[in-house]
Amino acid sequence: MKIIVGNWKMNGDEALAHEFIDAFDNIDTQNTVVICPPAELLAYFKGFKYSVGAQNCSYANSGAFTGETSPASLKKMGCSYVIIGHSERRRLFSENNEMLLAKWKNALTNGLTPILCVGESNQNDWNNELTRQLDIFSGQDLSHTIVAYEPVWSIGTGEVPSNERITQSLQFIKKTVGNTVTLYGGSVNIGNYKTILNQDDVDGVLIGSASLKVSEFSEIVKY
Ligand code: PGA
Repeated sequence: MKIIVGNWKMNGDEALAHEFIDAFDNIDTQNTVVICPPAELLAYFKGFKYSVGAQNCSYANSGAFTGETSPASLKKMGCSYVIIGHSERRRLFSENNEMLLAKWKNALTNGLTPILCVGESNQNDWNNELTRQLDIFSGQDLSHTIVAYEPVWSIGTGEVPSNERITQSLQFIKKTVGNTVTLYGGSVNIGNYKTILNQDDVDGVLIGSASLKVSEFSEIVKY
């Protein structure tokens, strides 16, 4: 059994949400399927046959945090997962390790399964960059967390690390934070998902652009 997560990012609309809900009603798979649409589309996913996740959450529960969404309200909206620390959040919105640790804790406290993203921007420094991102989680229990290895240079570029590097990185993550579920993400598509999912330690995949195409994503979830 694998975990297949679709990250729609800031894409999609009500029509696409309905297209997915209708199509997935007729899809049967043993895999865990999670769609993470933009927050304003979450309401359309009420009654979705598979799981729904958010792309971000606040480290706070309520109060003067303009523009933020608490994990408790995401849970009420039907989410059971939340992506934490996607490289776009780290890079474009200056989310640092301390913030991400606080978000991670708050997600878990409110009953959401965090999908924590890590990944290097410089291929030659992969293990040091991963260490810098994971250090803050040392001593924490990540057994109810999913860690997604997403090399920044692979996201949206069509470039994928070698099979050996994927396995090596996921093993490195498991060794650093203890027992956790590990996904690979970055340019996963209809042409490469089988090879990637066949690799040791790949418990699933986190998919960006290919998760917006119902024909591709529905094929992948049937792995
Ligand atoms: P991609 O995005 O599949 O479009 O490369 C993956 C991600 O950003 O999670």
